[in-house]
Amino acid sequence: MDFTLSEEQLMIQQAARDFAQNELLPEVIERDDAQRFPSEQVAKMGELGFLGMMVDPKYGGSGLDTLSYVLVMEELSKVDASASVVVSVNNSLVCYGLEAYGTEEQKQKYLPRLATGETIGAFCLSEPEAGSDATSQKTTAIDKGDHYILNGTKNWITNGSTAGIYLVIAQTHVDKGHKGINALIVEKGAKGFEIGPKENKLGIRGSDTHSLNFNDVKVPKENRIGEDGFGFKFAMKTLAGGRIGIAAQALGIAAGAYELAKKYAKERKAFGTEIANHQAIAFKLADMHTQIEAARHLVYKAAWDKDNGSDYDLSGAMAKLYASQVAMETTIEAVQIHGGNGYVKDYHVERLMRDAKITQIYEGTSEIQKIVISRNILKG
Ligand code: CAA
Ligand code: FAD
Repeated sequence: MDFTLSEEQLMIQQAARDFAQNELLPEVIERDDAQRFPSEQVAKMGELGFLGMMVDPKYGGSGLDTLSYVLVMEELSKVDASASVVVSVNNSLVCYGLEAYGTEEQKQKYLPRLATGETIGAFCLSEPEAGSDATSQKTTAIDKGDHYILNGTKNWITNGSTAGIYLVIAQTHVDKGHKGINALIVEKGAKGFEIGPKENKLGIRGSDTHSLNFNDVKVPKENRIGEDGFGFKFAMKTLAGGRIGIAAQALGIAAGAYELAKKYAKERKAFGTEIANHQAIAFKLADMHTQIEAARHLVYKAAWDKDNGSDYDLSGAMAKLYASQVAMETTIEAVQIHGGNGYVKDYHVERLMRDAKITQIYEGTSEIQKIVISRNILKG
């Protein structure tokens, strides 16, 4: 086994680290406070090639592997998970979904804009009555010959107001259940497409999360991704890769909090010595370091599986389940190590703790990851 990163991967990792320090860190607290989307930073990430990392260069992408993408996600998430979720959704849900399953015309039309950050994408599966239970879609896409008529509500949509291109999952043949679902490309500005108010969230407050309403929206048939009825499988297959991105986000949040806690523990004095010299604190750091390293191995292995053509449903779900748990536990301990300072915004760890929670909820809750994992290990 070779655990060495290539020269190229190290370079990309360093570029993401520099970007996070120089461009994300300076106003991250203010953006969180004001729930401000990181527009300028997203534009710069587009220029750096972070928004279409795995997309073929012939469609304007960077043509890199999943591990490089994971390294970037980890570095960005150490500092700003609101910015990294834009990278995750755009890369692994929208660009990947289109590149893997779209027609040549769809790829040529949409990928160059998405991969360069000229516009960003959104992935619209969840509904008020269909979150974990994703086959219970109520949004309908009625077949009208050369087009569909889309009606319904999607909620919790990341990049909800800032996206230009939306992949919308909807039910066409109600009697066929999950086999009657389609995935459609909808552009912002389509008649009857309305964006609801922004959610006021616990964490990732810079990310814009909205509900979306579709009222008789006309969607041309050529905007359907895959065969008629492929929509649910499209969502599941795409989410399998998306979960690797969120696992990397969780890993980054944990690693960011750990680095801050370690630095603080070596500086802060109590009872005549640095608090790191108290074993209770040193042991917390030892646990954090060990758990983060274990999470990193799971995340990199899932990326390796995807890059090497192995099945990654199981490894991606395990990586997300474990890394998100580590993110939550590590950030709580990082706040504890900071004492009172951990409870105020200036020291960043309270924000990382708030941001960590979402990694146990979106792209399939921890309970759903356990369903995916148990079904995979028990099948056959
Ligand atoms: N790959 C291919 N096909 C798959 C699949 C996969 N990974 N997982 C399921 N399928 C197929 C099944 O084979 C089945 O098809 P057949 O009948 O032809 O065999 C079909 O899909 C239905 O599967 P299940 O019977 O397993 O469906 P289920 O109702 O039991 O649900 C589930 C399975 C895993 C719980 C699924 O509903 C699920 O993943 N729920 C969570 C939804 C989710 O993750 N939402 C995230 C929204 S996006 C987001 O959150 C983005 C963001 O925040 C940034
Ligand atoms: P529910 O499905 O109602 O679950 C409630 C609780 O019940 C959870 O703890 C769940 O794990 C548990 N539960 C449900 N079913 C089972 C079961 N069978 N066994 C055991 N436990 C179970 N969705 C999108 O489509 N696109 C996005 O871009 C997107 N971005 C999001 C951004 C944010 C900030 C948030 C909060 C959500 C986002 N989501 C998005 C939605 C997200 O994927 C869902 O919230 C998530 O899948 C859970 O669905 P739910 O909220 O309806 O919870």
